[in-house]
Amino acid sequence: MPLLVAIDGPAGAGKSTVANRVGHALGIPYVDTGAMYRSIALLALEQGLAFTDAALADTASSLGLRFYPSGEGQRVALGTRDVTDAIRSPQVGRAVSKIAKLPGVREALVHAQQGLAQSEMAGVVMDGRDIGTHVLPGADVKIYLTATLEARSQRRHAELVAKGYTGTLEELMHSLHERDEEDGCRQVAPMRPARDAVVLDSTVLSVDEVVAMVVALCQTRKARARVSHHV
Ligand code: DC
Repeated sequence: MPLLVAIDGPAGAGKSTVANRVGHALGIPYVDTGAMYRSIALLALEQGLAFTDAALADTASSLGLRFYPSGEGQRVALGTRDVTDAIRSPQVGRAVSKIAKLPGVREALVHAQQGLAQSEMAGVVMDGRDIGTHVLPGADVKIYLTATLEARSQRRHAELVAKGYTGTLEELMHSLHERDEEDGCRQVAPMRPARDAVVLDSTVLSVDEVVAMVVALCQTRKARARVSHHV
């Protein structure tokens, strides 16, 4: 039986690190849905396209994004181009929530995400903002991973500085706060915990602790599903 794991929450809460490691531990692929929205933002910025459905919905339905494993992590390719680093730039970070508001773009990406989940025999771990509420409402395990704005900004700042970012912590905190507001207040599929999600606050938890909790939850659900299947 496939295991569907949804991990949602605000930027910088550690979703992608946790989702990647949970996927490894359970032997199922990890799908980073934020990378899909980010790739469209990258293309729009590079090609000078307007941030409207008219300009971008077709791009979203024929995106051709691929995820492939590399060492501990995962890389992202658009056609033959590796965009893993380009989609994480601060410019893309500032543009992406404007793209994620567009109903036509969301519809195309949600459709692609549901198709990806269905095509994986053993299941998937998918992270984003609306996975538990819209993309996989029937997911076996739903996690809403959060942390204080300060903790999330500090983590994200350290990551970006290691890659050569020279902006201040305050600037980054401001940009994460704006993104939280835009993602949480938009009309279509706003970021929020699903009613049946387990809310984990990672402010005072290590990555290892969060991963251990999520894996344990998944194993319990799997064992329960096996028992009820045999009854
Ligand atoms: O998780 P991330 O920071 O890579 O997400 C980038 C943006 O895309 C963020 O502003 C929220 C949006 N997003 C979304 O609206 N729905 C998703 N399922 C995933 C990301």
